[in-house]
Amino acid sequence: MCAVMAGGCTHIKTFVFGARPTGHYCTDRMMKMQENIPLAPFTTLRAGGPARYFFVARTDADIAEAIGFARAHSVPFFVLGGGSNVLISDSGFPGVVIKNEIGGIAYEELDDGRVCATAGAGVVWDDLVKDAVERGLYGLENLSLIPGTVGAAPVQNIGAYGTEVEHSIDRVEAFDIETGEERVFSNAECGFAYRDSMFKRPDGEKYIVTRVSFLLHSFGTLNTVYKDVAEYFAQRKINAATLADMRNAIVDIRTRKLPDMRHIGTAGSFFENPIVSIVKKDDLLDRYPELVWYPFGESGIKISAAWLIDHIGEWKGKRDGNVGTYERHALVFVNYASENAREIYDFAERIRADVKNKTGIDLNMEVSLLGDFR
Ligand code: EPU
Repeated sequence: MCAVMAGGCTHIKTFVFGARPTGHYCTDRMMKMQENIPLAPFTTLRAGGPARYFFVARTDADIAEAIGFARAHSVPFFVLGGGSNVLISDSGFPGVVIKNEIGGIAYEELDDGRVCATAGAGVVWDDLVKDAVERGLYGLENLSLIPGTVGAAPVQNIGAYGTEVEHSIDRVEAFDIETGEERVFSNAECGFAYRDSMFKRPDGEKYIVTRVSFLLHSFGTLNTVYKDVAEYFAQRKINAATLADMRNAIVDIRTRKLPDMRHIGTAGSFFENPIVSIVKKDDLLDRYPELVWYPFGESGIKISAAWLIDHIGEWKGKRDGNVGTYERHALVFVNYASENAREIYDFAERIRADVKNKTGIDLNMEVSLLGDFR
């Protein structure tokens, strides 16, 4: 933890920059708890039914209030961030949806050019990355333009272009729904793994992330090794890329390769890249010599789910009813309708069954399911 190493990264209560909340709900403080609110507009897939109760939380006290309400009414709760990684069933959610909009970004200078950035869970992720890059702080630039909020970043350990957010996270503050108190988790306590953390596992379900602190650097080095990034700079003959160049590169690569969530219903990668054994990889390579794979951890292999979906099933760019895969990326779903969560789910199941049938590999959804899909 930077807090321990430098005695810095203290608990910051005054925020110097407030991210603007987004959404289409009533902002009247007296109307914090609303009923039967359609959730589709709060998700980037733009599908799914209503929330029985919908509560906008801008402070830790709001979170406590929403949890108290759920408990008093004996209904479940669900915390929604940017809605970019969730598929909500058409019947909606029978409990309290807590829209986490705890805002603010604060910076604290430590020693040796290190800076601790603390952001509220409801801050739009890319607002934080943009702000950090503009301040000349290294660490988050490869994660530019990832959709969603700061609070979701540690939960699923977001990653892109050779960087995982776990390498920048110093600590995570969370509300403990059992005790009603704040808990602070060090990086190690977060139990990060590929697209996974303690917060996604049963032990972590009782915590709601309220703030995340990142350890950033004024004098950093850029990670340009990822294939798309290296090609981008080589093509433009940029030998000494700056921090701003790096962000521009990622924004450009993502914009060209992924659909624009402002105009198209999508949730980015729908499945995780499967992790298999070396034996399994060798078996697949015998049948599919072009297979794209990467070493993973001590003895694992990460297989490109996009490659499997694209080349084994030839699903890339295929449309089935109101759902399809994006023409430029097979792992990315596109939704052409609304209130058709079932259709999206069934489409995913067809792809999953096809990949399983041909390769024996089970694809896990990266997108979280909420509600009833039986
Ligand atoms: N590929 C295909 N067909 C395609 C797309 C890709 O065969 O339609 C192959 C290519 O060989 C390519 C390889 O798959 O080189 C990897 O593709 P890409 O670089 O796009 O990475 P990815 O593994 O598919 C992951 C993340 C993305 C992140 C990119 C870039 C997961 C599940 N997804 O995708 O994250 O942007 O790396 O680092 O790990 C997201 O989480 O929503 C997301 C978009």
